[in-house]
Amino acid sequence: MAATWFDLTGRVAVVTGGGRGLGRTFAAALAQAGADVVITSRTQSDLDTVAGELREHGREVLTVCSDVTDEGSIEAMVRQVIARFGQIDILVNNAGVEGTAAIVDMDVRKWDQVLSVNLRGPMLCCKHVGPHMIQRRQGKVINVSSALATVVARYMSAYAASKAALVQFTRTLALEWIRHNIQVNALCPGYFLTSLNEEFFASDTGRRLKERLPIGRLGEAHELEGAIVFLASAASSYVTGTTLYVDGGHSLA
Ligand SMILES: NC(=O)c1ccc[n+]([C@@H]2O[C@H](COP(=O)([O-])OP(=O)(O)OC[C@H]3O[C@@H](n4cnc5c(N)ncnc54)[C@H](OP(=O)(O)O)[C@@H]3O)[C@@H](O)[C@H]2O)c1
Repeated sequence: MAATWFDLTGRVAVVTGGGRGLGRTFAAALAQAGADVVITSRTQSDLDTVAGELREHGREVLTVCSDVTDEGSIEAMVRQVIARFGQIDILVNNAGVEGTAAIVDMDVRKWDQVLSVNLRGPMLCCKHVGPHMIQRRQGKVINVSSALATVVARYMSAYAASKAALVQFTRTLALEWIRHNIQVNALCPGYFLTSLNEEFFASDTGRRLKERLPIGRLGEAHELEGAIVFLASAASSYVTGTTLYVDGGHSLA
């Protein structure tokens, strides 16, 4: 019985920002658990690379070049997925950007861009994927937030605000969709080395922060795999509106 709780055979998962970084890990974990996977981002060459890796798991893979901040682009992406697979069972709202700046130096366009990718993006994806989940009375939405939804870091106000808002968006939507048998949860990674933060962790400040993490090291991408499969599978059928921290104790510090 236990083996079937995590089995995603026959499921179709959409992972935004699936062209590199954590999205690549999430897509691979879902494919390994049996799902067919759609990966999206704005860079087709990244998507092609990851698609090649995913096909090695023997699953169907679709790449869609799309921008999560653009409603027309999301609508078109969802249409393409439905035309190919006829269903969407799992939505991983992973695409995200950071935007480090002191408030007094904040470029308002940068602030708007961070909020737009990290908060408006997941909302638009839910808006357009939701009707397909509601119609079939089943679905899993996983919003990739961050430990910085709770912990604060200097100059990260735009990012932290967007990720905290995403947690509250998750809780609200979980309640809204509970009657449709759709579970909506947030996943909050701590620090994992990706292109989002490699410059920062190469700096002195980054090195000092790494040493201060309660677990004493950065996370390794594979340490997120169990969490994503749990939130995407039948194992989490009674779990909704919750926030799962995978952060090496970062949010305790
Ligand atoms: N790495 C960490 O330590 C960490 C910790 C906590 C939370 N997170 C969260 O995890 C998620 C992934 O982060 P990451 O570290 O893997 O970042 P990453 O390596 O920079 O990858 C981000 C992905 O999002 C895509 N993306 C960015 N803007 C987009 C847009 N407007 N439309 C569609 N796709 C877009 C990027 O592709 P294109 O630029 O080519 O579109 C890329 O595929 C983010 O939400 C991030 O906030 C990361």
